Amino acid sequence: MLSDKMEKQLYEHTNAEFYSAYLYLSMAAYFDSVDLAGFANWMKVQFQEEMFHGMRFFEYIGHRDGRARLDAIQTPPVEWDSPIAVFEETYKHEQAVSARIHALVSLAMQENDFPTNNFLQWFVAEQTEEESTVKAILKKLRFVGDSKSALLMIDQELAGRVFTPPASTAAIT
Ligand code: FEO
Repeated sequence: MLSDKMEKQLYEHTNAEFYSAYLYLSMAAYFDSVDLAGFANWMKVQFQEEMFHGMRFFEYIGHRDGRARLDAIQTPPVEWDSPIAVFEETYKHEQAVSARIHALVSLAMQENDFPTNNFLQWFVAEQTEEESTVKAILKKLRFVGDSKSALLMIDQELAGRVFTPPASTAAIT
């Protein structure tokens, strides 16, 4: 059974994951609007990942006899100056999500809530990976600067991303 405080923090985090999904879908719309379909694809896959994360939290709360409360999802930004600006915001956003996950882990440890701590560890690893992936794209964008041909090559590369739900985690939620 979850404490009331933990239940609230978990369902507020569910909302944060769904906000992340909205943010990345808005970024996908931006990339589509500037004809960078590969970048848009990458963001659409990211949207799917974030929906998956949100659902994992939602299901976990129910699994522990809690009940998720669904709040309004904040409106995401709609305009960016450049692909670099988008990925700078993405990187900052993922760092903020990592900080939220770490705060949840701290609370689980304070409460000796071992199952929640265990559940959250998947997200600790996932955040490390997400930050690293985003940072790598950001570095490439900074490296190519204003070169349109290099930008199109990155666009082609990002067109290949597909969403694959991690099979090993399906049973946990
Ligand atoms: Fe679900 Fe990208 O954090």
